[in-house]
Amino acid sequence: MNRSLLAALPLIITGLCEAKQKVDELYAQHCQICHGEKLEGGLGKSLIDGVWRGDGSAASLTEIIRNGQPELGMPPFGEVLSKEEIRGLVIYIQEKEKYALENPPRPEPGTKDVYHVAGERFRLETVASGLSTPWSVAFLPGGRFLVTEKPGQLRIIEADGEVGPPIEGIPEVRDKGQGGLLEVALHPDVAENRWVYLSFADPKGDAQMTKIVRGRIRDNRWVDEETIFEAPEEFYTNRGHHFGNRIAFDKDNYLFFSIGDRGQQDQAQDTTRPNGKIHRIHDDGRIPKDNPFVDDGYPTIWSYGNRNAQGLDFHPETGQLWESEHGPRGGDELNVIKRGVNYGWPVITYGMNYNGTPITSETERPGMAQPVTYWTPSIAVCGIDFYEGDAFPSWKNKLLVTSLRQQELHLITLNGEEVVRDEIILEDRGRLRDVGSGPDGAVYLVLNSPDELARLVPVE
Ligand code: HEC
Repeated sequence: MNRSLLAALPLIITGLCEAKQKVDELYAQHCQICHGEKLEGGLGKSLIDGVWRGDGSAASLTEIIRNGQPELGMPPFGEVLSKEEIRGLVIYIQEKEKYALENPPRPEPGTKDVYHVAGERFRLETVASGLSTPWSVAFLPGGRFLVTEKPGQLRIIEADGEVGPPIEGIPEVRDKGQGGLLEVALHPDVAENRWVYLSFADPKGDAQMTKIVRGRIRDNRWVDEETIFEAPEEFYTNRGHHFGNRIAFDKDNYLFFSIGDRGQQDQAQDTTRPNGKIHRIHDDGRIPKDNPFVDDGYPTIWSYGNRNAQGLDFHPETGQLWESEHGPRGGDELNVIKRGVNYGWPVITYGMNYNGTPITSETERPGMAQPVTYWTPSIAVCGIDFYEGDAFPSWKNKLLVTSLRQQELHLITLNGEEVVRDEIILEDRGRLRDVGSGPDGAVYLVLNSPDELARLVPVE
C-alpha cells in the first residue's frame, strides 16, 4: 500500500464522522478492519497483549493514533477524529487491555478463603450476613459495630455477629437511586460524648439532598438529635445520583464531608453551590471562619470540582486528607484534598461518559489539581481507609481502596503524594462499598451482593 493511499484510508473507510459518536462504534468504524473485532490484531497488531512499541502510556497511544506510524502501516487519524474521540479510543484500548491481562488474586489451592497476597496470609470471613444493602460501618467501643443499610436502617451488630433490630427514631431518608441512609461515623471522642453522625439523602417534597445529623443511641433508640449540615431547599433536586456523603474527622475534630455533583456536573465548578464539593465544619455544625469561601461563596466548602467523593480518610502520619472520587467511565480518581483547590470536574477528567461518548479531551489545565492517580478502566472506586492495625504489619499506613463494579480491594503503597504500587489483594468476592481497619487489626469490608459485613483476619 503506498503512503498517500494509507494516509487517505481513514477518510475512505469512514466518510463523515459525527462529533459525539460512541467509542465502540468509533472503533468498529475506524480501527476494527486492521486491529480485529476484539482488538486481538490482524493487519495491525494486537492492542490487548500488553506489548507496545512505545511505553503504552495514554500519551503515547494518543500520539500514535493522531500521527500514525506510516512506516509500519498505521494510518494517521489526527485529521479525521477529534481530540475527544481520540481520547475516548485511548480509554477504550486501555479498558480492553486491562480486562485481557487481568491476573487476579485467587484463594490458595485446597482452600476457599485463604489468600497469600501482598506479603500477608489472610482469610476472608463473614461477620454478619442477611443485611440489606449495607453502606458503611463504624466500630463502637467494646467490639460492637454500627452499620447503615441504604433503605434506611441503622443496626448494631454484636461482636459475635448477631444482627440487632433497626434502631428506632432515626431520620426519614429517601431511598432512591444512589440515595438513602449512607454514612455512619463516630465522634473521635465517642467514648466520652457518645455522638454518632449519620449522613443521608434527606427528602423534601419529591426532591432530596445530602444532610448530616448527630445523635446518641440509648436502649436501641436514636435520641438527642441535632442537625449538623442541611442545605437550603433551593439546592434540593429530584435526581437520584451523586450524594457523596462520606465523613472524616481530623485530629482537631473538624468534620470533613463530601457532596457529589447531584448529577449536575457543571455546578461542581460553582462555589456558590454545595454540590460537587468537599466541605469542612466544626463537629457541632458551626462554620469555621477560615473556610476558603466563607465570604463570597457557599461557606462550608473546603475544595471544589469533586464529582462524587465516595471515600475520605486522613493519613495517620501526614494528617493529609485523602479522597477517592467516583469518576465517569475511566476517570476514577485518588486525590489529596487541599484548602480551596479546584479538582477540575467536569472541565478536566480522565474519563468519558458511560455510554462511550466523550466529555472532554482535556485532562489538565492550569489552576486545576491533578489526581494522585486515576483508574482506567474505572473500577467504580468507593470507600478508602489507611490501614492502622497491627495484624498485617506490612500493610501499615498503606491505603486500602474498595471498588464496586470491579469487586476489587486495592492496597496502595505511597511515597508522599505518589503511588509507588497499586496491588489488588482481593477480587470477585462481592461489590465492595466500604473498608475500615478495626480496633482488633482485622480489615473490615462492607459488601453488597452478598450483603455482608466481612473481615480479613491473619492466618499463620
Ligand atoms: C490500515 C490498517 C490500520 C487501521 C485502520 C488502524 N491501524 Fe493501528 N496499526 C496498524 C499497524 C499495521 C500498526 C503497526 C503494527 C506494529 O507495530 O507491528 C498499528 C499500530 C497501532 C498502535 C500502536 C501499537 C504499538 O505497539 O505501539 C495503536 C495504538 C493503534 N494502531 C491504534 C489504532 C486505532 C485506535 C485505530 C482506529 C482509530 C487504528 N489503529 C487503525 C494498522 C492499522
